[in-house]
Amino acid sequence: MSLWESIILEKVGDLAWVTLNRPQVLNAYNIKMRDELYEVLAHVESDPEVLAVIFRGAGERAFCAGADLTEFGSAPSQAIARQVRFERDVWSRFINVSKPLIAAVHGYCLGSGMEIALCCDLRIASSDAQFGLPEPGLGMIPAAAGTQTLPRVTGRARALMALLAAERIDAMEAYRVGLVNRVVPKESLFEEATALGTGLASLDPAVLRLAKETVNRGLDTTLEQGLKIESAAALRLAASRA
Ligand code: COA
Repeated sequence: MSLWESIILEKVGDLAWVTLNRPQVLNAYNIKMRDELYEVLAHVESDPEVLAVIFRGAGERAFCAGADLTEFGSAPSQAIARQVRFERDVWSRFINVSKPLIAAVHGYCLGSGMEIALCCDLRIASSDAQFGLPEPGLGMIPAAAGTQTLPRVTGRARALMALLAAERIDAMEAYRVGLVNRVVPKESLFEEATALGTGLASLDPAVLRLAKETVNRGLDTTLEQGLKIESAAALRLAASRA
């Protein structure tokens, strides 16, 4: 039995499948899901049997249709909302998971859903996937890293078009702009994700961890600093093998 309600965590071989599980509301991201995701991320990070993690949405229609609109304005106060957010900072926990994270995206992938996908390292989309950041139309801006992660992936212009003009990105465009690594037929989405995850899980986890860390740290610096980070990582790896 799963420990969580809004999320299903299943281990299959070396892979963990994390399913956003509120299909009746297109897997809208609510407070419960946030709290559960926070725990699930710690769980997969600390479980030595898990070598790669795949995120997906339950049901036929969506990966996740964004923050749960019915909870908007339900926090007792802004100060409490900020405090809770600080205590359960899902997004920094996401970004600090050392294992490879794959998003297997079908259908709607909006708002927080898109931000979850963007926190993953690799993204596979089925041909019906639609990405978008509708927050400005709701009088807010994405606050789960989307303003930072999307332009780092697609470049500034396309990210701003998605954000300012609320222009959705379909699967083929997502592939063209580098938002997803592959587009596959819907019926083979999970099979393709399994193949990708299994391939990653067959490699040395320490090497994957270092490669991921080196890319992520380097992207936030200049090329010169990035090259230093790379050399240091390569030396560290060689030393660990000596
Ligand atoms: N929060 C809460 N409930 C949501 C939701 C969300 N973000 N997105 C969808 N739902 C619910 C709908 O209220 C509906 O529930 P109901 O059957 O009890 O009426 C159910 O999910 C199905 O959605 P519906 O709107 O009927 O499907 P659709 O095909 O007509 O439209 C969307 C799909 C995704 C375009 C539309 O649901 C939508 O715009 N959702 C909100 C997206 C959004 O703004 N997210 C917040 C980003 S910050």
